Amino acid sequence: MQLEEARIVQHTEVQGGYRLLVMDAPGIAPQVKPGQFVHLKVPHLGEALLRRPFSIFKAGEGRLSILYKSIGQGTNTMKYLQPGESLDLIGPLGNGFPIPAEDTLPALVAGGYGMAALYLAARTAPVRGLAFFGGRKSDDILCVDEFEALGWEVRIATDDGTRGKKGLVTAVLDEWIGQKGPAVVPEFFACGPNPMLKAVADRAAAGGWKAWVSVDRNMCCGVGACLTCVQKIRTPDGGWTWHRVCREGPVFESREVVWDE
Ligand SMILES: Cc1cc2nc3c(=O)[nH]c(=O)nc-3n(C[C@H](O)[C@H](O)[C@H](O)COP(=O)(O)OP(=O)(O)OC[C@H]3O[C@@H](n4cnc5c(N)ncnc54)[C@H](O)[C@@H]3O)c2cc1C
Ligand code: FES
Repeated sequence: MQLEEARIVQHTEVQGGYRLLVMDAPGIAPQVKPGQFVHLKVPHLGEALLRRPFSIFKAGEGRLSILYKSIGQGTNTMKYLQPGESLDLIGPLGNGFPIPAEDTLPALVAGGYGMAALYLAARTAPVRGLAFFGGRKSDDILCVDEFEALGWEVRIATDDGTRGKKGLVTAVLDEWIGQKGPAVVPEFFACGPNPMLKAVADRAAAGGWKAWVSVDRNMCCGVGACLTCVQKIRTPDGGWTWHRVCREGPVFESREVVWDE
């Protein structure tokens, strides 16, 4: 983990309000593991404001990129960043996704920016499996060609039916679970809204399979000091304790997560 002034080399609108931000970050980029994030100080917002966390979409050759959607003050300000400007980054942060176990079929489940957050996991997995992507509409489904180019079979669901099956991502997931046969043991890797993560966790628990979920929490410091981002995690004695999503997470094994808050 380090602090770095990263230089913007590309900033383009991809689709549906998502933007790709590519930065020269020769210190951070070589250290990145799948599922980790950077904590970015948004310029022009003033010194008092907090950094914002973004999953690392791609990393290599001294560069890293993020794929983000403008939803509030910080990300709306980021829209105006220009190539050549410098950004203050801390990263790579957090514990990311593990490598899928050898005797399982990896199944990625993503909503929103989760498609970007899972890309490096898809690229480094020793075995290709299936990727289930969900969004409100066609424009919210990102990077399909890139996952397919890596050898993943992508199944899509949209709320309005403009791409793939009409419904939530669980519609295509459940369809596959129902058809896959008992010899196929899935291991899930999920990133998206917390209700989607819980839905994946429920299916994994019902099937006796493992699921890794990347939990979304508002963050302040991003480095484990402020306790803004805590999540209830089960302990072996049947109780629970707080874990910091920025430090012990964002990825947790789903059986550890207490979903009742
Ligand atoms: C691990 C992780 C990875 C993520 N990866 C991605 C990704 O790859 N792509 C993506 O699009 N999104 C990602 N997100 C979500 C992204 O961080 C949020 O979309 C972003 O923080 C929104 O910032 P905003 O200022 O635009 O929104 P806001 O809703 O305005 O603010 C976001 C947070 O900052 C706080 N805040 C805002 N202003 C102030 C203030 N003045 N003082 C104190 N606190 C303030 C808010 O309380 C809130 O916690 C990720 C989140 C996490 C936790
Ligand atoms: S954001 Fe400060 S402890 Fe996680």
